[in-house]
Amino acid sequence: MGFVVCVGNASLASMELRWVRRRSKCDVDAPRSIPVFISTLKRDINLEELRHLYSRCDHSCNRLSKDGGSSIVDMKKLRTAISRSDVVVSVFCKSHHVEKSTSDKDDDDDAEEERLSSSSLFPLDLRRQSKEESSLGHMFQDVLPLSPSSGQLVGFGRAYSDYGLTASIHDLMVLPSLQRMGIGKLIVNRITRLLTSRDIYDIAALCFEHERPFFKACGFADDRMGSTTMMFTKSLEA
Ligand SMILES: CC(C)(COP(=O)(O)OP(=O)(O)OC[C@H]1O[C@@H](n2cnc3c(N)ncnc32)[C@H](O)[C@@H]1OP(=O)(O)O)[C@@H](O)C(=O)NCCC(=O)NCCS
Repeated sequence: MGFVVCVGNASLASMELRWVRRRSKCDVDAPRSIPVFISTLKRDINLEELRHLYSRCDHSCNRLSKDGGSSIVDMKKLRTAISRSDVVVSVFCKSHHVEKSTSDKDDDDDAEEERLSSSSLFPLDLRRQSKEESSLGHMFQDVLPLSPSSGQLVGFGRAYSDYGLTASIHDLMVLPSLQRMGIGKLIVNRITRLLTSRDIYDIAALCFEHERPFFKACGFADDRMGSTTMMFTKSLEA
């Protein structure tokens, strides 16, 4: 169940509040169900937060670079990639709902500083204000309405399309501590819904073998035409 707030063209941009549920109770203090905020607006993407998510998910956005897909994200390329993507879906939740690993906790001070000093794709002073307010404590966070500016980015996915026939999904990721709660499926469903609403059904997703069950659960299967993906590798061999 959720509410939908449509901004501009209803089929292109939306924000929605949903609840997702943990499969098992890992942390005594952690609630079983948590609210998440889904946005398809590019202005809600903070590039530093996104870079942080790439590193927490151990996901490279530059897999075939000459340095072998270094984990260092080229912010200039990332900015270009996001601004040229046709569909972006970001998922936020309240930061105290994210179970933190030890390394996450160590990184937190640096990350918060980076987040506050970083450039949003579209600068948003309110974001800084809300992040500072949220540090006042969990109780205060609980009464703050969840929004991209007050929440933490915990899931992301994007797609390219030729706006006529085909599209492909890239950089799908969910924060490890919140995986298997349905967030990945929410993101893929949102992407496919936006694409099919434009009559685009030829949608591909490049994935590893171990990710196939997930994409199967989202309605993907082997291509009926028998095609498979080959990657251009010549530049890497040189
Ligand atoms: C792939 C990924 C995005 C899935 O996100 P998620 O939020 O954990 O997935 P969901 O909870 O929505 O899973 C939906 C269904 O997919 C299937 N599924 C998801 N992960 C699975 C896994 N590791 N093994 C088997 N099935 C899986 C299940 O059927 C699941 O439903 P269930 O939990 O009720 O059984 C996430 O694991 C991730 O970020 N991985 C790292 C980055 C990555 O590999 N990205 C994909 C390539 S672009």
